[in-house]
Amino acid sequence: MTLVHVEAPVFEHHHDPLGIGESAPRLSWTVATELPGWRQQAYEIELSDGTATGRVESAESVLVPWPGGELGSRERRGARVRVYGRDGSVSDWSPWSWAEAGLLEPADWTAGAAAPPLELLGLPDGPALLLRRDFTVRGPIERARLYVTAHGVHETEINGRVVGDDVLAPGWTSYGHRLRYRTHDVTDLLTEGANAIGATLADGWYRGRIGFRGGKTDLYGDRTALIAQLEIAYADGTTDVLTTDGSWRCASGPVTAASLYDGEKYDARLLPSGWSGPGFDDAAWLPADALPHDPALLVAPTGPPVRRVETLAPVEVLTGPDGETILDFGQNIAGRLRIRVQGPAGHTVTLRHAEVLENGALAIRPLRDAAALDQYTLRGDDGPEEWEPRFTTHGFRYAQVDGWPGELDPASDVVAVVCHTDMRRTGDFTCSDPLLSRLHDNVVWSMRGNYVDLPTDCPQRDERLGWTGDIQVFAPAAAFLFDCSGPLSSWLADLAVEQVQEGTVPHYVPWVPLLFGNSPTAAWGDAAVLVPWTLYQRFGDLGLLGRQYASMKAWVDQVAGLAGENHLWDEGFQFGDWLDPAAPPDNPGKARTDHALVATAYHAHTAAVLAETAALLGHDSDAAHYAALAREVREAFRREFVTPSGRLACDTQTAYALALTYDLLDGAEQRERAGRRLVELVDQDDHRIGTGFVGTPLICDALCSVGAYDTAYRLLLQRNCPSWLYPVTMGATTIWERWDSLLPDGSVNPGEMTSFNHYALGAVADWMHRTVAGLAPAAPGYRRLRVAPRPGGDLTHASARLDTPYGLASVSWERDGETLTVTATVPPGTVAEVDLPGAIPQEVGAGTHTFTTTV
Ligand code: BGC
Repeated sequence: MTLVHVEAPVFEHHHDPLGIGESAPRLSWTVATELPGWRQQAYEIELSDGTATGRVESAESVLVPWPGGELGSRERRGARVRVYGRDGSVSDWSPWSWAEAGLLEPADWTAGAAAPPLELLGLPDGPALLLRRDFTVRGPIERARLYVTAHGVHETEINGRVVGDDVLAPGWTSYGHRLRYRTHDVTDLLTEGANAIGATLADGWYRGRIGFRGGKTDLYGDRTALIAQLEIAYADGTTDVLTTDGSWRCASGPVTAASLYDGEKYDARLLPSGWSGPGFDDAAWLPADALPHDPALLVAPTGPPVRRVETLAPVEVLTGPDGETILDFGQNIAGRLRIRVQGPAGHTVTLRHAEVLENGALAIRPLRDAAALDQYTLRGDDGPEEWEPRFTTHGFRYAQVDGWPGELDPASDVVAVVCHTDMRRTGDFTCSDPLLSRLHDNVVWSMRGNYVDLPTDCPQRDERLGWTGDIQVFAPAAAFLFDCSGPLSSWLADLAVEQVQEGTVPHYVPWVPLLFGNSPTAAWGDAAVLVPWTLYQRFGDLGLLGRQYASMKAWVDQVAGLAGENHLWDEGFQFGDWLDPAAPPDNPGKARTDHALVATAYHAHTAAVLAETAALLGHDSDAAHYAALAREVREAFRREFVTPSGRLACDTQTAYALALTYDLLDGAEQRERAGRRLVELVDQDDHRIGTGFVGTPLICDALCSVGAYDTAYRLLLQRNCPSWLYPVTMGATTIWERWDSLLPDGSVNPGEMTSFNHYALGAVADWMHRTVAGLAPAAPGYRRLRVAPRPGGDLTHASARLDTPYGLASVSWERDGETLTVTATVPPGTVAEVDLPGAIPQEVGAGTHTFTTTV
């Protein structure tokens, strides 16, 4: 009996490898075995084309180079793996995994862009338009693929059935440089003989309104279009290719308005029955305009699409102050409602959305200029009608339902549909304090709410932009909770191309010019260096560092130029320690910590990270150059901001957090003094948090780095405002933008920037995983684990589990008086350094281990 099993290998970061863009996809596999301390000695890969590596002496199992010839467009190839252990064990062959390449070359695209004619085009965010055409399937089919994308957002149907389950396809990338297409297997949707294909096309990010203070429209163009190529391979070896061109016919349809911010209006009476099926009479429809487009911009996805991930039933039906019906879904989400309604033709039901209630009514002021209002006008047939908007999402927990015909049954008539990028959930945390566990759940929900195709600041108001600073601080938590390696590598590709275009890292990516231009800003622009670095640490993807290297380097070089000879970055606009609790509601950047201190600290840190990156990639002279730069910036930081004994010129929690975690101090004495001062500052604030976006992810690590675990726990477990748990005590189900988005009296913070779903301040979750539960990477991709829980506060247990690239790892501990029992699971192929309080550190191999110690 074989004791070692290998799971089917994974191609790159794809868990659904249909239509991949990599012609030489790297392979990863995990091993399942009970053999204690199992380590890989060698592997063997076979491809379905007969390629066989034979035994390769290597411990690598994550992102192993493709061993065969490159995949051609449309080519499908299988791979399987077997492994040899250091202990002499040999596994079975893994099951086969199959990947199919998409269209890899621009020349593979013969489809033009079919654009609805100007006569039909309304104002931006106006009607969604229908496009269709008939076609014939000549005989038995072997396989059929639809390669599809849009200028705008689309939902495509074949013979009346929706293709795939993507939401808001093709999502939002930097359309001027990269437009994602998707490959769908549509073999089962086709029938021999007469067929039809149709698409509903809305403006989305391409043409619809984006941005605050009125925003802008037509940001990428003033014409929406569908780009689709249907390839039918027949059993007899012949192929038909049907593409978008001037032969498609267009009309308006039931969606009379569709806006990402404002919502969707749908008049069911206007749905042309059978329009996406064969035999529909489209003689009165208008021909599409065939517009040119650049197929070189079309890229395959590197991660999953946005999908409907979960539905939530209302937990309560409330009555507002004016008698309005308000549904509480018990959870703040990104998504929309699905209704089942019966009533007379032409009757309209209105759905409004909000994250919180104020005085019992929907608090819509925080949405600013996002109406978040959907309307459904009934067809009025006999049976119930089901509807869900398709071209919008909202950030909400509450929904007000106006004009419901008859009695609304909350058990069957309305659900909330949670929509976001369908990333694999990988990490979890729980502990004995229900408030802290809820805080962690809130972080998870904020990650979910802020990944509707890209990492955003918030999902509800007239913004929803890919703010670089927000994901920069949150990336370590994100990378634990979900497999975001594929989605974030796409976002980083956008960042890099826009950095070249803008001459600096944009404030948000994709960049669209709204109210202000770009200028380099610390912590935000540093995303160029720190997000790839985080992904490397967590997923072991060195290739990503290679791809981002030019972008990382350009950022550090630019900042070095700005800082000049004295290495202090003390000029130009900065967001600083955005939203520290002292910043007034109307001036979030007016935080207590000196902007120059924040910017110079970041400069030192990213220069040091770049030096390490350069060394890993074998750019030795760069490595030496950036290591020297980091040293010089550190010295400059100390000259300017640190007294010889270790106090800082700027006496704030964030300043000390930066100096301690970014290693900006000189020797143990300065560290000790700075640590003591940080503890004093936190004590003086009664253990309430005093940090904004910059200090918040660092402060607990900073305290722990000087042994002040107790202070870190008191800060973490504080319930008075401002603190992490205050929002939880106020009923928060997501992380708020401000420490006090809801004021203690229950009113909404008067600042115009008041979201209830912003993940940045939830960055502390990463520390909870690493230090409270005690599960951290000690080498890239968790090839070495660090098991080092530091129990504190009045917690009696905590645990974390993570699907690492090597398999499932977990740590859980229980405290009974002074006895601490820790159980750790170490995946095959890895080792863990176990460092427990009151015990000598040790190293253990794969398997599940239990340790007991006294605290
Ligand atoms: C966003 C933030 C963002 C910030 C930049 C805000 O409007 O919501 O999260 O990082 O602007 O300062």
